[in-house]
Amino acid sequence: MTRYTGLIDAYRSRLPLPPEAKAISLGEGRTPLIKLENLVRHEGVEADIYVKFEGANPTGSFKDRGMTMAVTEAVHRGAKAILCASTGNTSAAAAAYAARAGIKSFVLIPEGKIAMGKLAQAVVHGAVIVQVRGNFDDGMRLVKEVSETSPVVLVNSVNPYRLQGQKTAAFEIVEALGEAPDYHCLPVGNAGNITAHWIGYTECTGVGTKSCLLCNGNCQFGQAGGKAKRPKMIGYQAAGSAPFMRGAAVKNPETVATAIRIGDPQSWDPAWIVQQESGGWFDECSDAEILACQRLLAEQEGVFCEPASATSLAGALRDLKSGKIPAGSSIVCTLTGNGMKDPDIILKAGLPQLIEVDAVRSAVERVLVDRL
Ligand code: F0G
Repeated sequence: MTRYTGLIDAYRSRLPLPPEAKAISLGEGRTPLIKLENLVRHEGVEADIYVKFEGANPTGSFKDRGMTMAVTEAVHRGAKAILCASTGNTSAAAAAYAARAGIKSFVLIPEGKIAMGKLAQAVVHGAVIVQVRGNFDDGMRLVKEVSETSPVVLVNSVNPYRLQGQKTAAFEIVEALGEAPDYHCLPVGNAGNITAHWIGYTECTGVGTKSCLLCNGNCQFGQAGGKAKRPKMIGYQAAGSAPFMRGAAVKNPETVATAIRIGDPQSWDPAWIVQQESGGWFDECSDAEILACQRLLAEQEGVFCEPASATSLAGALRDLKSGKIPAGSSIVCTLTGNGMKDPDIILKAGLPQLIEVDAVRSAVERVLVDRL
């Protein structure tokens, strides 16, 4: 057994880092790919559905994959500080990896709309936290402006190293299944992750080396006998924050899935290239669908993801039931973040009746007997 030391060590030859750059890692990657069993039966759908549980990453979201790359590269260049705007998860990852690297982090968060667990992460890792009187899109505009003139490295997904790290999730899926799935479903916010997955699938399946618009035919990594199949990529936005469905930026995005409360995605054009190249589509899910699916997954399979993450599975189930995704397909849904980041959303729905007993054996036994 050799100790797993993170995705840079695992995939170094396929990542664009100088060989001498020291990896800043928390052991991210190698997340579980869980095949759904009970839920598939419960919903009466016929398909091989897998969830890639990115909530198992060190800071509880897929952002760690991108952040290990962005921070490693920044530190190698001598950076002393990083900067990001965030709906919560990017700031948590930035703060943690900056702490690990011994550099400063500055995070801009939108007013009042960030899950408590994520805020706690930024606090505990010592980030300088700036609450912007505005939403995520305002924060994004500001960090782009400020990073032009200040000695900080911008670590939002406009930093190309972020997507390079995040593409490794696709590598892991192809390694685990032996080939790409038929469909890959993701929640879409800034649209970086869906783009990163397509880069990953393109590289590790060895296709698209000439035609891929994203890499301009420069994929040098995947040519060694890869399998030709790539998945159809499906991106789901929250209905109140669905610029791709409206065909224009959404001014005041709103959704219970605060992680994807984004009206003006930074990777707009690449994401549409992904849709075209893969033959997939974009759609939207209502807040009610998202929350119902989060519960369903937790109750049926023991997997607790955050609301934004459940968007991928909510959409996939709907498309399976309508036949848009054919029965018998293999489907991977990315669960982008851990449910424990946002306990408020569960408790807001009301605590179940707690059963209070005296501290005696017979009282506890009575509870069991009544319910077994
Ligand atoms: N799911 C979760 C849990 C997220 O935190 C995000 C993005 C997404 C999905 C969407 O991914 O932006 O690549 O399309 N969160 C960013 C943040 C914006 O600041 O943490 P995307």
